[in-house]
Amino acid sequence: MACESSSVKPVYLLLLCFLLGTASAQLSSTFYSKSCPSALRTIKSGVSSAVSSEARMGASLLRLHFHDCFVNGCDASILLDDTTNFTGEKTAGANNNSIRGYEVIDTIKSHLESSCPGVVSCADILAIAARDSVVALGGPSWTVLLGRRDSTTASLTDANSDIPAPTLSLSDLITSFSNKGFTAKEMVALSGSHTIGQARCTSFRTRLYNENDINATFATSLNANCPSSGGDNNLSPLDTTSPTYFDNAYFKNLQTQKGLLHSDQQLFSGGSTDAQVNTYSSNSATFVTDFANAMVTMGNLSPLTGSSGQIRKNCRKVN
Ligand code: HEM
Ligand SMILES: *[C@@H]1O[C@H](CO)[C@@H](O)[C@H](O)[C@H]1NC(C)=O
Ligand SMILES: *[C@@H]1O[C@H](CO)[C@@H](O)[C@H](O)[C@H]1NC(C)=O
Ligand SMILES: *[C@@H]1O[C@H](CO)[C@@H](O)[C@H](O)[C@H]1NC(C)=O
Repeated sequence: MACESSSVKPVYLLLLCFLLGTASAQLSSTFYSKSCPSALRTIKSGVSSAVSSEARMGASLLRLHFHDCFVNGCDASILLDDTTNFTGEKTAGANNNSIRGYEVIDTIKSHLESSCPGVVSCADILAIAARDSVVALGGPSWTVLLGRRDSTTASLTDANSDIPAPTLSLSDLITSFSNKGFTAKEMVALSGSHTIGQARCTSFRTRLYNENDINATFATSLNANCPSSGGDNNLSPLDTTSPTYFDNAYFKNLQTQKGLLHSDQQLFSGGSTDAQVNTYSSNSATFVTDFANAMVTMGNLSPLTGSSGQIRKNCRKVN
C-alpha cells in the first residue's frame, strides 16, 4: 500500500493514510470474506466435531477465549508455549492443569493453513470457536468481528494477576472486570458461562468444607467426589442441572445456594447483583441477549491490528 511504500508523501496522502490507519484498527465481520472465504465454515466444522466427540469441549473453548482476552487482549497469547525469551501463560494458576482445547485449535489451524496459508489469525480462531461452541451447546449466536492478529509474546505475570480467581468476593469480581472495561452487569452476564463445563475439586474445596452458604443437600452430593484432602483434579459440573446445555439454569442454581464456586455464589449473596440473577433466572431471553453482547465486547479487548503482531503459522509458536 502507498502508505507503507512511499517515503515522501504529500500532506493529503498522509491524512488519507491516517484515516485508513484509524479505520484498519477496527475489526470487521467480513475480514476474511475475500482472503479466506472458507474460514468460518472450517472453524465451525472443527468445533462441531470436537463438541460431538466430547460436549465439555464447548465449555473449554469458550473459557480459552476468555483467558486469552483478559491477558493483554485477544491476541492468542495463551496459546504460546514457553520459550527461552518468555515463560508463557499456560502454567498460570488459572490455566495449569485446567485450560483445555489447545489440540482442537491446532487441528483447525492446520486445516486453515492448508486452505489459506498465513491468513487467519489464531486470535480470530479462538473468538469464532467460542461463539460456535456456545451455539453447539444450544446457546445464542452473535456476529464475531474479525481481523485480530497474534502476539509475539505472552506474560505469565499478567495471566496470574488479570484472570479472576474463584475465591474473589463480589466487590473484587466487579473490580477485576472493571479493570478490563466491563460493568458489573456484564460481569454477571458473562459469569453465566458457568452454565456449562466442569470445575476441579481444588477450585471449590475450601468452599465445600469451610463455608455455610452452600446448600446442604448440594454439599452432601459433592462430598464423595471432592474429599477434604486428595482428589484435586476430580471434576464436578458447574451447573448440575444441565452441564452441557447453554441455558439459564446457572442463575436458578444460585437462587437455591447451589453455586459451585465461591465466586459464583457471590453473585447471589444479598448484594447488589441479586436482582440481576433473579432477572436472568426468570427471563432466559434477557440473559442470552446480554451474554452475546458482552461476548462481543470481550472479543474487542485490545486486538492487535494493522501491522502489529503477526499471523502465526503454528498457534503455539511465534513465526
Ligand atoms: C467471574 C469470574 C470468573 C471466575 C472466578 C471463574 C473461575 C473459573 C474456575 C475456577 C473454573 C474451573 C476451573 C477448574 O477447576 O479447572 C472455571 C471454569 C469455566 N469458566 Fe470461569 N470464571 C469466571 C468467569 C468466566 C467467564 C467470563 C467465562 C467465559 C466467558 C468463563 C467460562 C468458563 C467455562 C466455560 C468453564 C468450564 C471449562 C471446562 O469445563 O473446561 N468463566 N471458571
Ligand atoms: C527470542 O527473541 C529473539 C529476538 O527478538 C528472536 O530472534 C528469537 O527468535 C526468539 N526466540 C524464540 C525461541 O522465540
Ligand atoms: C503445573 O502443573 C504441573 C503438573 O501438575 C506441576 O508439576 C507444575 O509444578 C505446575 N506449575 C506451576 C507453575 O504451578
Ligand atoms: C437446597 O436445594 C434444594 C433442591 O436440591 C431446594 O429445594 C432447597 O430450597 C435449597 N435450599 C436453600 C436454602 O435454598
